[in-house]
Amino acid sequence: MTSYQHVLQPLDLGFTTIRNRTVMGSMHSGLEDRFYNYPKLAAYFAERAKGGVGLIITGGISPNRQGWLLPAGGTMNTWGDVINHRIVTHAVHKHGAKILMQILHSGRYGYQPFVVSSSPIKSPISPFKPRKLSDKQILSTIDDYARCANLAKKAGYDGVEIMGSEGYLISLHEPIIEMMSGAVAMKIACVSQ
Ligand SMILES: Cc1cc2nc3c(=O)[nH]c(=O)nc-3n(C[C@H](O)[C@H](O)[C@H](O)COP(=O)(O)O)c2cc1C
Repeated sequence: MTSYQHVLQPLDLGFTTIRNRTVMGSMHSGLEDRFYNYPKLAAYFAERAKGGVGLIITGGISPNRQGWLLPAGGTMNTWGDVINHRIVTHAVHKHGAKILMQILHSGRYGYQPFVVSSSPIKSPISPFKPRKLSDKQILSTIDDYARCANLAKKAGYDGVEIMGSEGYLISLHEPIIEMMSGAVAMKIACVSQ
């Protein structure tokens, strides 16, 4: 372990401390998509927390219906969602790990009929043609990200990770990247105060 002498040392980030530097990356398991599976999802993450991981990142959770990966996929935009997610955060914190919720808006990759994008061009991996977002709709999507982050905080998450690569919404084309990337972070920072 001499080359990795800091891996199991605590990491003080100033506003919080993670007990070591191991991270379980975001992997959507499908359990996020149905409310009745949240106890199973909590048990799954609790095992990793018990095993000693420092930080867990959930699979992608959508900020609104347009961002679903699948029909009625995992979303954080109501108080009902907060109650489900509390089961997860409670189970993880009980074993000393921290947990972030990943906010993922599927953009044109969504496998569902409400998909949106920066243009009406279909993705090769979804049969659904997206609706082009207007400037006004981009702004309301930014609000949805902020609301989602705020609810994640209420659910007990230690923070959020914003998925912004691989062709999902924020990584799409210039108007969306320009309008969303900074604004999402700023709005989230504001609601988290
Ligand atoms: C089943 C599965 C689900 C995944 N879900 C997500 C996800 O929801 N969000 C995300 O950012 N990455 C997701 N990923 C990508 C992983 O986080 C990771 O980046 C990828 O597996 C490559 O990791 P590696 O370089 O260690 O092999 C998923 C990967 C797998 C295999």
